Amino acid sequence: MRFRTQRVAYWYFAVALSLFGLQLVMGLLMAAKYLGPDPLIDLLPFDVAKAMHTNLLIVWVLAGFMGGTYYVVAEESRTELYSERLAYIQLVAWTLMGATAIVGYMLGWTAGIKMLEQPYPLKLVIVAVMLLFFFNIFMTIRQAGRWTLTEGVLIAGLVLAALLYLPALLPYDNYTVETFYRWWTIHLWVEGVWEMIQGSMLAFLLVRLSGADREVVEKWLYVIVGLVFMAGILGTAHHYYWTGVPGYWLPIGGFFSALEPVALVGMAIYAYAAIRRSGAAHPNTLAVHWTIGSAVFTLFGAGLLGLAHTWPAINKWTHGTLITAMHGHAAFYGAYVMIVLAMISYTRPYLTSNRPERGQSLGYWAFWLQVAGMFGMTLSFATAGIGQVYLERVMGLGYLDTQLKIQIHFVMLVATGSLFAVGVILYIVDFFRFAPLRVAAPHDEGAAPRHAPGTV
Ligand code: HEM
Ligand SMILES: [Fe+2]
Repeated sequence: MRFRTQRVAYWYFAVALSLFGLQLVMGLLMAAKYLGPDPLIDLLPFDVAKAMHTNLLIVWVLAGFMGGTYYVVAEESRTELYSERLAYIQLVAWTLMGATAIVGYMLGWTAGIKMLEQPYPLKLVIVAVMLLFFFNIFMTIRQAGRWTLTEGVLIAGLVLAALLYLPALLPYDNYTVETFYRWWTIHLWVEGVWEMIQGSMLAFLLVRLSGADREVVEKWLYVIVGLVFMAGILGTAHHYYWTGVPGYWLPIGGFFSALEPVALVGMAIYAYAAIRRSGAAHPNTLAVHWTIGSAVFTLFGAGLLGLAHTWPAINKWTHGTLITAMHGHAAFYGAYVMIVLAMISYTRPYLTSNRPERGQSLGYWAFWLQVAGMFGMTLSFATAGIGQVYLERVMGLGYLDTQLKIQIHFVMLVATGSLFAVGVILYIVDFFRFAPLRVAAPHDEGAAPRHAPGTV
């Protein structure tokens, strides 16, 4: 931590990790519900637990992005944040919004659109929080009078993510039309602008962890972002198969989304090569693990497993089955969970007191148990999904009859999910066992802030 106000990142990460824990509880609960009987059916039916599970994910990952951004922007622009107080107000508002949404879902207060369930007033709070966030970030950069490309791509990703939320605010009276625009938000987030966020965080981490030349890393950042964009925008059409839109979307969706993994291959190779060239010499070995892990797991979950069912001839059978869950879990985990955990792992020795920079065994256990657990979960969903597609879609068995026949895969899901949960608990314990730092870390004294600490 070079700048005192970077400490706000600690509290964003603390909130993010706590909500991550809660998200996991909901996930395990749902897997258990598949196995039945379900004593909680009246209190917490499956659909409510699912809305909580996915919304908690989005709220905590975004909290991680925001915390990470405050850290990155201060460091890249070499200045204190414009207002530390606004950053805390923003965090409180964000957390309250998330908590209200969760309680609301239990009481049946929901907009009923998958992943965008937030009722209208809460959607407005989200917009307000975003505006506050951007105001603080832009004022910080203005006060510093300098910015870097990495930081620029990061902020562009966040601003575009906020803009793409706007279609979710409009009223639609036709469900098909609503679904059409829903993908402008969801798909263009995960396969478009959030990739900019992941890519720039990756660039920030690679420059610091490998000592790689900033100019080279940033050039690659352009290439990756460009490729994701070109393929990802028209790739949206892989959600438009048989939804009521004209048939020409089928080849467009198939072709362009099949190009998306190319950028992800490039990203994984590049991240690995950068660290290898440096001889993996950086003392923060855990941050190195999470950074490379994110690039490689994205290639697996988003690239490979996305490609597996993106072609219309396959998606015709697999759409909306456990094959989707297989891909969704591995992709989200690799791209966005792991990059947030990489940012936390890299920054926490600077944000907490007395934490050694070098990785310790607790951190390694957390990493490998999570990776093994998520890999096992992905395989459980995959095997369950393949069985489901053949029995239900090909053979024509009923939904519930099919579910009875694939129960064994859910036993495997609970087992591997529990392994994953242990990994997450260890990560959370590892994070909270060191107290947050109140002042800038001494080893970074060399880089004095351009602005007096505490300037608001
Ligand atoms: C980091 C990147 C990605 C993330 C986080 C992600 C996540 C997800 C999620 C959560 C869903 C379920 C959405 C829903 O039904 O509401 C989904 C669906 C889908 N994804 Fe991805 N994805 C990513 C990249 C990709 C890529 C690169 C491809 C193709 C090569 C792809 C292909 C698909 C397809 C075809 C579906 C629709 C599945 C169905 O028909 O049920 N995804 N993705
Ligand atoms: Fe998509």
